[in-house]
Amino acid sequence: VTPAPLARDAFRTGPEAYLAGNSLGLQPIAARAAIERRLEEWATLGVEGWFEAGWLEVSRAMAPALARVVGARPDEVAVMNTLSVNLHLLLAALYRPSATRYRIVIDADAFPSDSHVVASHVAWHGLDPADAVVRDAEAIDESVAVVLRAGVSYLSGERADVRAATGRAHAAGALVIWDLAHAAGNVPLAMHDDDVDAAAWCSYKYLNGGPGAPGGVFVHQRHHAVPRLAGWWGVDPSTRFVMASEFVARAGAEGFALSTPSVLAYAPVAASLELFDQFGMASLRATSVALTAHLESLLDEVATRRPLRITTPRDPERRGCQLSLSVPAARAVAGRLRAEHGVVCDFREPDVLRFAPVPLYTSAQDCARAAAALDAVLGPTAG
Ligand SMILES: Cc1ncc(COP(=O)(O)O)c(C=O)c1O
Repeated sequence: VTPAPLARDAFRTGPEAYLAGNSLGLQPIAARAAIERRLEEWATLGVEGWFEAGWLEVSRAMAPALARVVGARPDEVAVMNTLSVNLHLLLAALYRPSATRYRIVIDADAFPSDSHVVASHVAWHGLDPADAVVRDAEAIDESVAVVLRAGVSYLSGERADVRAATGRAHAAGALVIWDLAHAAGNVPLAMHDDDVDAAAWCSYKYLNGGPGAPGGVFVHQRHHAVPRLAGWWGVDPSTRFVMASEFVARAGAEGFALSTPSVLAYAPVAASLELFDQFGMASLRATSVALTAHLESLLDEVATRRPLRITTPRDPERRGCQLSLSVPAARAVAGRLRAEHGVVCDFREPDVLRFAPVPLYTSAQDCARAAAALDAVLGPTAG
């Protein structure tokens, strides 16, 4: 049977076959009303909205649903800032370099922003990034203080074994932070049970929260009392307006918040999380596995006559929904797929096209269009 998406009607789909949800998720139909409700509260309540419309707790209100997506206790997650900012905040709290244990290990294909974050962080501590940042996830020894890994690689789509990698790093005495940008809402996660120290993700990819939507953090409960960079939003809301100068952190991941949340921007994230709660990660994952296998078989068929290679692992356990393809002149191919065939994917240097059949809204027809378009654009090969 051809796999069907779970909630296509709940999204604003256009005439194009949209396979770029790994980059920016489609707009949930409920997002507009959710933002308009906030606008109305602002118009009618003014400043009282903080207390009467629940603005004070926009993050906490979505914590239970978000905790189910990443496999955490609700008090271990919070919605705040954006991903790179949150990685800095988590490192500020957890990265305590000593003379002998000071290195940060990242993936060889780490997302550029993650590289900038860790290099600038070690330099800010007076260390040399050339020595203190190691781009090899296997190079974990007693000199390593923190390991920062991607749950799913943005480039290859490969899914890490979070539990095993976390256990190996812990055995060497290092803390582990996961970048879940491409994992949150894409693959099942168990941050708490896998004993992860901390994690951060954005909400604009598989979580469909809109461009630049507030990101999420996970802080394992054992770290809830660590010193951190603080601001008044990390204080308990019941005492926040006492305006005490002493910082008393609120319990849980919320205690890592700094600033007033951008309430309007939280609305679509909350609207989207309701869909995740409605379907649950288990059924999302089952649909995702089927849809991705479907696209894979269509692409394999095209690859019998066109210069196309799937570089994402073939084992469904070792990937999420994204398939990365290596094709010649990939940038131009992506442009033609869109202009000539209405197929939206994205291009990453040097030769990678990324296609993500998202189980909430991508249809088997979208997959078929993508495969047929690739067939046409890649043209007949010699022989
Ligand atoms: C794996 C990964 N890490 C970090 C980032 C940076 O996220 P932000 O711009 O929200 O800081 C991205 C953005 O796409 C990403 O894919």
